[in-house]
Amino acid sequence: MAPSAISPTTQDYKLSIEDLKSVDHSLGATLNNGPGLSISKQLIAQALKTRVDSIDPDTCDLGDDDAFFVADLGEVYRQHMRWKKNLARVKPHYAVKCNPDPRVIHLMKQLGMGFDCASMNEIETVLGMGVDPSRIIYAQPVKTKAYMRYAARSGVKQMTFDNLDELYKVKQLTPDAELYLRILTDDSASLCQLSNKFGASTNDTGDLLELARKLDLNVVGVAFHVGSGASDPQAFLKAVQDARFVFDQAEALGFTMHTLDVGGGFTGDASFEAMAAVLSDALDAYFPPHVRIIGEPGRYYVATAFTIACSVIGRRTVNDATLGTTSYMLYMNDGVYGNFSCIPFDHQKPTPRVLKCAADPINFLYDTHTSGYDTPSMTEYSIWGPTCDGIDKIPDTHCFAQVMNIGDWLYFEDMGAYTKCSATPFNGFPSAHDTIYVCSEPGAASLLEL
Ligand SMILES: Cc1ncc(COP(=O)(O)O)c(C=O)c1O
Repeated sequence: MAPSAISPTTQDYKLSIEDLKSVDHSLGATLNNGPGLSISKQLIAQALKTRVDSIDPDTCDLGDDDAFFVADLGEVYRQHMRWKKNLARVKPHYAVKCNPDPRVIHLMKQLGMGFDCASMNEIETVLGMGVDPSRIIYAQPVKTKAYMRYAARSGVKQMTFDNLDELYKVKQLTPDAELYLRILTDDSASLCQLSNKFGASTNDTGDLLELARKLDLNVVGVAFHVGSGASDPQAFLKAVQDARFVFDQAEALGFTMHTLDVGGGFTGDASFEAMAAVLSDALDAYFPPHVRIIGEPGRYYVATAFTIACSVIGRRTVNDATLGTTSYMLYMNDGVYGNFSCIPFDHQKPTPRVLKCAADPINFLYDTHTSGYDTPSMTEYSIWGPTCDGIDKIPDTHCFAQVMNIGDWLYFEDMGAYTKCSATPFNGFPSAHDTIYVCSEPGAASLLEL
């Protein structure tokens, strides 16, 4: 996973369900979606349209035509309700690294969630938003000494470890810590593997617990992570069984074990319910109700909440004399060194869609669906980022019914996880982009006092 940073640039755009009164209701019809366009999509469409319509690339100020996000905080709220329905026993501690967006964190604070922080910066951000230190777990098994001193000063006590050397650091710097022993998992079916770097094998947990006992440290729980973007529910079952084994080992040594941390790995797609069912059953089978269960979901909460819009800054025509075809290379103002860092770091394949095409009679094309390669008049594109590097490319080729040109706009959905947090300023392109917030859920809007 890439490092996280707080984007300083946000735009307050208080568009909520109430504002639907003023939303252009012809948008749905214009987009051939009829009444089917959800409230969330209507709000996102309105925000995208308002912004891109206000930009003239020939006259706008520097930065006005930069890529920008639209975030539907209502989607974060819906994911929380879905979590509570399916994983009632597991108190979510949002993995801040995934997307440290201040509005998202604020909503989660209001929802009563806890937070998983991996660095001083993340702890500082969450504490700075008024979250009590007891709601934070410093879930980084190998910690920087100065950050540990900061955690101790700030009252953050919960932290993970998975090796002997870390225990000596804990003894020296945070002797009052409430420690979670992070164990190894089988993360082979996950998008991003973590067990190559973290987690103690059950062969080693005995030695670790004995040293913790000898150093008079306070081990209170076990933590695991089945890998980010997990796809095999059995990985959760095995991890819960291993955690039970370590709980028993620790209790035999005299530790009072009270919490199991089931980590992250959940995706927001339709597989969540099945994954949650296996995990819930395993928890009930191996951990009695008095054991507190926490989780560290990241991607699950935010992936689908963010849409990004990018403008086309250049175009190269590619004529294939042999085939007699014309395709285009489109260059856009964001790429793999920016918010599309999710391509190299998070193994994502974002899907481009046409947002605005001046040459098309409909012009604003959010959520219009064309039938794909079978449409005879489709034009083929490869899509590139703005830097000088040849790897700066959106994977695969893409076909649109429109002939796109400079100044037109593309958009990509599901861009909330591991995107802006790992954007770099490589080549001098901005790494911070505006976020326009909308809120499609009245419950979230009232928590946020919108
Ligand atoms: C310790 C820890 N917890 C939680 C997460 C969040 O994982 P996910 O986004 O898959 O839920 C990560 C991701 O790398 C992690 O390393």
